[in-house]
Amino acid sequence: MKSSWLIIGLIFASGAIVAVMILMYILPLDFSESSPVQPILFSHKLHAGVNGISCRYCHRHVTDSRLAGIPSVADCRSCHLYISAEAPQIKKLMDYWDKREPIPWVRVHTLPDHVYFPHMMHIRARIDCSTCHGQVAAMEQVTRTASLKMGWCLGCHRQHKASIDCWTCHI
Ligand code: HEC
Ligand code: HEC
Ligand code: HEC
Ligand code: HEC
Ligand code: HEC
Repeated sequence: MKSSWLIIGLIFASGAIVAVMILMYILPLDFSESSPVQPILFSHKLHAGVNGISCRYCHRHVTDSRLAGIPSVADCRSCHLYISAEAPQIKKLMDYWDKREPIPWVRVHTLPDHVYFPHMMHIRARIDCSTCHGQVAAMEQVTRTASLKMGWCLGCHRQHKASIDCWTCHI
């Protein structure tokens, strides 16, 4: 009697372990929500928040191009020749300038190659950066706030009566 309960218990326990393993494999659990380590400690909170520099001042292609664009070393330098020039992180910045090398920023948002995402169409439709990127001006480091999954795109396209034809986003 006792041993049969033990066997049933073992079957349940192993079943539970297998179920958890299958779930972990199937569910789109995403542990990449934390920010990557960047080559320079660049703070959006300090630039866009405290100092109120506009998003478009740095991401200046967002209204006319597919990509928003990341500012060049020359853009950073134009301010930092005069601002905090002695700070260690700014010296690091100037080293990139001296070496004529771009800063190897690590991407936070990425889509697969088969997806076409045009920033300009969304900005023209008056969708705010924060709808898709969260409150970046309050972030020390940029963190992804949306899944960027197909369902996320479609949900908003349906809501705004924008196109949901496959070839709108898949080329
Ligand atoms: C409708 C949603 C949406 C809006 C609105 C939006 N973005 Fe994005 N953004 C994305 C997605 C999706 C990606 C990833 C694109 C890719 O990998 O091709 C991205 C990527 C980026 C990137 C990195 C790659 C690049 O394009 O240079 C920057 C910087 C960026 N966004 C800034 C902004 C700023 C600034 C605004 C507001 C002026 C904004 N975004 C508005 C969805 C959005
Ligand atoms: C429009 C002017 C402007 C531009 C462009 C700019 N910054 Fe800044 N940055 C500032 C200001 C203002 C501060 C705050 C200075 C302070 O409060 O002491 C700052 C502070 C910093 C700091 C902190 C310095 C410290 O005291 O430790 C770093 C690092 C930094 N910026 C990096 C960058 C990088 C990298 C770029 C280019 C992507 C950039 N900045 C572009 C204005 C600018
Ligand atoms: C002083 C210049 C500057 C300003 C102002 C600025 N950004 Fe950025 N942004 C950067 C730089 C440099 C990076 C790349 C490093 C990083 O990810 O932190 C970046 C990265 C990003 C990314 C992540 C791109 C990726 O890798 O997917 C987003 C989203 C973004 N910015 C949105 C915004 C929004 C929204 C605002 C306004 C609230 C803003 N930025 C203001 C310089 C700036
Ligand atoms: C928060 C709402 C929202 C999200 C999220 C969103 N979109 Fe859009 N999208 C729009 C709106 C609104 C338009 C503009 C429709 C228009 O101008 O007719 C648009 C337009 C587009 C267009 C141009 C359509 C055309 O007719 O030329 C493409 C391509 C596109 N989106 C792709 C994407 C992709 C890919 C994603 C997800 C990674 C996405 N969008 C996420 C709201 C959104
Ligand atoms: C508004 C933009 C948008 C539209 C419209 C859209 N997709 Fe997608 N699709 C995406 C994005 C973003 C991804 C990548 C993220 C993901 O895999 O969820 C994707 C991924 C996919 C994938 C790859 C899934 C994988 O696991 O790699 C397939 C297949 C696909 N879409 C088929 C379709 C078909 C079929 C249609 C038309 C019925 C369609 N899509 C319409 C945005 C869109």
